[in-house]
Amino acid sequence: MILSNFIFVCSLVCSVASATPIAAAVNPPKGTCTISAVDVDVDTDGNGCRPGSVAVAISEDNSLINLLFDNFQAAIGPNAGAVSKRALCKVNITMSSPGWTFDVNTVDFRGYIKLAGGVDISLVSRWKWIDSKGVDMKGKGNMQKQLSGPFENDVLLHKDGEVSDTVSSACSKTAARFQLTISASLSATVSSGSGVLKGTQDGALDRGFSEILNLGWRKC
Ligand SMILES: *[C@@H]1O[C@H](CO)[C@@H](O)[C@H](O)[C@H]1NC(C)=O
Repeated sequence: MILSNFIFVCSLVCSVASATPIAAAVNPPKGTCTISAVDVDVDTDGNGCRPGSVAVAISEDNSLINLLFDNFQAAIGPNAGAVSKRALCKVNITMSSPGWTFDVNTVDFRGYIKLAGGVDISLVSRWKWIDSKGVDMKGKGNMQKQLSGPFENDVLLHKDGEVSDTVSSACSKTAARFQLTISASLSATVSSGSGVLKGTQDGALDRGFSEILNLGWRKC
């Protein structure tokens, strides 16, 4: 009797244990992932980024990282003024998540884009892990989004399942930095075709351009 109870308990526990890895993705507990530094390379040719113009935050449930760029903009055409047709921003994020590692599953961009007919925009983002000496570590990916005018929207561009060239992240990442590059470039096939990319517009207010990385976590 005791023996059969034991077997019953064991088979229950064993089946629960073996079912766990198949369950829906689990995020690490609140506070596991922390960001200690954000360093930005200055975009000398365009309006990509300046030190202090990028805010990086991880959501409380660790499901996403939000990068908010205060002055990420590009423009082409007669009204472009001093704004370049290319914007580039490179950000080094020093972060730690003891016992856990993540890969980027999908990427969203939030901003305002207006393109005349004959004007295209290409948005490219790449990320990788580098060690304290700047040498590449395991874990990288990239995504691209192309749009053609005529187009106007205060947009949420979602790229689902189109993250290409990914390499899973390794676990040993003490003092590692997550390096993310985002670039936008406008091109026109018609003379004086106009295009603009800037932050999300809220009336007269520019709320900035953001990139959202949706994370898939693994326990180490
Ligand atoms: C970001 O990391 C790379 C590689 O180590 C380095 O060359 C670059 O200077 C860093 N940028 C900043 C702003 O720290």
